[in-house]
Amino acid sequence: MEPLYISSSEAPKSRDVPTLLRQLAAKGSNFVDGNSESRGELLEIARSLCIALETPMEAILRMGWAQPTLEAVVRTALDLKLFDRMEDEDGSPKSSAQLAIMTGSDQVLLSRILKHLASMEVIIEMGTDLYGNTRLSKSLVDSIYRGGFRFCLGTLVTACRALPEQLANTGYRNPTESLQSAFQLGHHTKLHAFEFVQKNDFVGFNNHMAGYSLSRARWCDPGCFPVEEILGKNLRGDKNDVLLVDVGGATGHDLIAFHEQYPKLPGRLVLQDLPVTIAEVEGLPDIIEPMAHDFFTKQPVKGARAYYIHSCLHDWPDDKCQEILNNIIPAMTPGYSSILINENVVPEKDAHWLTTSLDMIMISVFATAERTEKDWNEILNSVGLHLVKIWTYERGTQSLIEAELR
Ligand SMILES: C[S@@+](CC[C@H](N)C(=O)[O-])C[C@H]1O[C@@H](n2cnc3c(N)ncnc32)[C@H](O)[C@@H]1O
Repeated sequence: MEPLYISSSEAPKSRDVPTLLRQLAAKGSNFVDGNSESRGELLEIARSLCIALETPMEAILRMGWAQPTLEAVVRTALDLKLFDRMEDEDGSPKSSAQLAIMTGSDQVLLSRILKHLASMEVIIEMGTDLYGNTRLSKSLVDSIYRGGFRFCLGTLVTACRALPEQLANTGYRNPTESLQSAFQLGHHTKLHAFEFVQKNDFVGFNNHMAGYSLSRARWCDPGCFPVEEILGKNLRGDKNDVLLVDVGGATGHDLIAFHEQYPKLPGRLVLQDLPVTIAEVEGLPDIIEPMAHDFFTKQPVKGARAYYIHSCLHDWPDDKCQEILNNIIPAMTPGYSSILINENVVPEKDAHWLTTSLDMIMISVFATAERTEKDWNEILNSVGLHLVKIWTYERGTQSLIEAELR
């Protein structure tokens, strides 16, 4: 049978193979190794090219065979610490027999898993039955990436897999009940996702947040948000004054990065999160003060230059976001304090897959959403804040939403 495909006359321009090849060549000639923008552009074109070349059946098999089986073997490999063992003895190539002994698994089984990992390019086949780590599998030896990936493949995937059933059960209404989301259905729990995670895979969750933030541009990186020009302007600068409060800042990775970038900006740095998270904090530089604080209660740190809140508001429906912001507002000094919200701003068109997949994760886990500029404006206006500017520093990553008292 003739494979089904969209003819080039029907295909949107961006899916046109010759056009994509020309774009790839043009961008490829400007490619600078280490430049994340040029790498990202090339990757997007290359991805569109793969999709344009794929027949529908190949796409179905990629999504229906390759992806779920890849998830299964990667999870098994992580459970066995396979990639760790592959790094032993200076990462020299190893056979399935060696690796079976090193991981305590059956050789026949392991050789099949290794072959799939190699065909999916997670590891590399260096000869017949000889395997080595790639950059990806080597990164999974690091506990931050390994723990975070296990969290995604386990806790998040279970929630996403339950989404179709949950949506069918509720007549395809846009979910808004955080205690009746796909998360509760998939995990057979009545707990809010945060409570469930705290009980079941808290370290994995914190690792995921830390690893995710390590791998993308941060708001305080050069060229993103002009930290010195904006936060440094009119800074009172007394050593007792607070420069930045990271509200819901997990174990402090954002504040650590901020301090590394701007060690000379004066003022205290305060890390806030729930007591259970603050108890996990270790190795913070002395300058960062950990503080247990529930953001549904009044902000205790008054008159900070900025209250920074990263990837927290998207976890909550609008009324809860209003509550969180209303608890910060009384602590702000008019004309001095800002609120800096680090979140996705979903564009009207051409949203990146990173943004849309996070939106689907939010719908599955919390029955919430990634928000558009209009949504952010509405939430901020509703609590008496004024959106000063949205600083978008990389497509597909988050933006910094700068807001002040109106
Ligand atoms: C998605 S994580 C974001 C963490 C961090 N800001 C980041 O971007 O990596 C959400 C954070 O909100 C914290 N959180 C949840 N409920 C909270 C509450 N009521 N008060 C304070 N923090 C809370 C969680 O513990 C978690 O660290």
